[in-house]
Amino acid sequence: MIEPFLNKIHQGDCLELLKKIPDNSVDMTFADPPFNLKKGYKSYKDSLALQEYLDWCESWILEMVRITKPTGSIYLHNIPKWLTYYAGFLNKVADFKHWISWDAPTMPMGKTLQPNHYGILFYAKDIKQLKFYEVRYPHKRDRKSKYLSKDYGGKKAILHPFGSLVSDVWTDIHRIKHNKYRDEHPCQLPIHLLERIILMSTDENDIVLDPFNGTGTTAIAAKRLGRQYIGFELDNEYVEITKSKLEEVKPISKLGNAWVSYYLDKIVTLRDCDWEELKEHFYLPKNPEEIDHTPIVLTSKIHISVPLKNEFEYQKKQIQQLFEPLENYESSVKINVVQYSHGENKPDTLI
Ligand SMILES: C[S@@+](CC[C@H](N)C(=O)[O-])C[C@H]1O[C@@H](n2cnc3c(N)ncnc32)[C@H](O)[C@@H]1O
Repeated sequence: MIEPFLNKIHQGDCLELLKKIPDNSVDMTFADPPFNLKKGYKSYKDSLALQEYLDWCESWILEMVRITKPTGSIYLHNIPKWLTYYAGFLNKVADFKHWISWDAPTMPMGKTLQPNHYGILFYAKDIKQLKFYEVRYPHKRDRKSKYLSKDYGGKKAILHPFGSLVSDVWTDIHRIKHNKYRDEHPCQLPIHLLERIILMSTDENDIVLDPFNGTGTTAIAAKRLGRQYIGFELDNEYVEITKSKLEEVKPISKLGNAWVSYYLDKIVTLRDCDWEELKEHFYLPKNPEEIDHTPIVLTSKIHISVPLKNEFEYQKKQIQQLFEPLENYESSVKINVVQYSHGENKPDTLI
């Protein structure tokens, strides 16, 4: 039975806990395991012998595949070196879909090419039955002039007004660099990275499982998007941090009836299939050629649920700036920025 595990973070060894999850019961599994790079985790020694690390990885990867539904997706985040082994394990039991390259510069390592990306392996349990949604991200623009950064070979007038389809190279999502935005954890991922993945592979109420929960990025992203979550984590302190953050998070990462992912001043990811409904919430230039220098602007009420308190003031400022251009248009925009306090069900700040 999967029900007792749902919408909870469970403290313990993921291999033991995974064995308790029924076959074919989870819509999406995502793992961001220790990289065996001697990172300073509290309860885990991140420096196993090569074969020991690989054997351990193979065991939990096979469990992830076992519990994933035939329509489901399996994602593995790691440095390219370990993903080459992971692909070998997965190719025997699942179907390759993508190797996503997440552009995220790391520390210089000496005599080597500068490592500039992490990989995210994306496998289908069964490629013929896979549930998958194409997603879009905003066009890149010059920060000051707002002109499109790319030339598009003279085809600007026929560009999608919101942004391009997401490819297998992700350059628009950055690692959490400032300590004030991160928890006491050495490798916390950005929430909107997980939101993009969840939007690609699941629907509302689907089940998302992360066997290496850390401080809960996957669970928080799932809850914000109205999905169910299961997290496993060895370290009790990380479990407690996650639980207190989850109490503050509400499933309101949506515009109208469509789930979207946003960060600071903009929507980072939306589903292509939702665009017909979502476009009602934007001011679109009348002449398609204006897209070259005029970003589209949100005209609807937007709810922001901020799980990290330090981010609140910053987000509020960014969102207010976002709506300033609308003063040029006759529009009745209402901004509703909501910060939920720990343990409370009602907002304590409304603008
Ligand atoms: C790379 S971090 C995951 C970070 C997470 N993605 C986030 O954004 O917070 C790996 C996590 O796996 C946990 N861990 C290590 N071995 C584990 C095991 N056998 N079972 C469950 N968790 C484990 C570590 O304590 C660490 O928090």
